[in-house]
Amino acid sequence: MKIENVNNEKKLAALEAVKYVQNGMIVGLGTGSTSAYMIEKLGEEVSNGLDIQGVPSSERSAALAEEYGIPLVSLNEVVELDITIDGADEFDPGLQLIKGGGGALLREKILAHNSKMNIIIADSGKAVSKLGKFKLPIEIIPFAANSIIAELHKMGLKPELRKNREGEFRTDENNLIVDVDIWDHEDLTQLNLDLLNIPGVVETGLFLKTTDILIMGKDKEVVTYK
Ligand code: 5RP
Repeated sequence: MKIENVNNEKKLAALEAVKYVQNGMIVGLGTGSTSAYMIEKLGEEVSNGLDIQGVPSSERSAALAEEYGIPLVSLNEVVELDITIDGADEFDPGLQLIKGGGGALLREKILAHNSKMNIIIADSGKAVSKLGKFKLPIEIIPFAANSIIAELHKMGLKPELRKNREGEFRTDENNLIVDVDIWDHEDLTQLNLDLLNIPGVVETGLFLKTTDILIMGKDKEVVTYK
């Protein structure tokens, strides 16, 4: 699909999700290009009088929200969120997700866990019958990087340390990301537990039970899954 059509689907999903946000809500702000459309629209609504406070899932989203005039609070100030709107890298028919393509999975998962309602917004290219074509991001602490990577190799997960132009990719928590191949794994709940059992693994990008509503842009329409 052409990039402008993909972007249009992202925008449609984002605009639909913003309709769920009401006055007085504490709103978790996701990370990524789809969430950016949501933050922009929320900013527009705030300038029209919508009274909300946002909790950003990344420094990038915090900067964007500030640019669009959304008042921000930290999770520690509010403890619980009314709603979180975030993107995904893949979703399956059970609304299970792979997230973390943008490297914000840890804070995103914390917001999802502490949110009364989670809405995922995505373009139609994110829909899959089985998770795993997209490599699963795992956040790990630098101290244990090589031993964790060796263990992931033994598990047959073909780990790759994420890099960018500056070298190793660092998350907002100054951790590393390893992307792994989970295609051959059927029991994702067990796999998630196995990964979280490795000391030094902070979090995985498997979001298995957090989604309440998923809004997908499809051509010029939106499809809502609950
Ligand atoms: C960031 C994420 C994003 O939600 C995910 O990568 C989707 O990004 P985009 O909306 O740009 O396709 O999990 O950590």
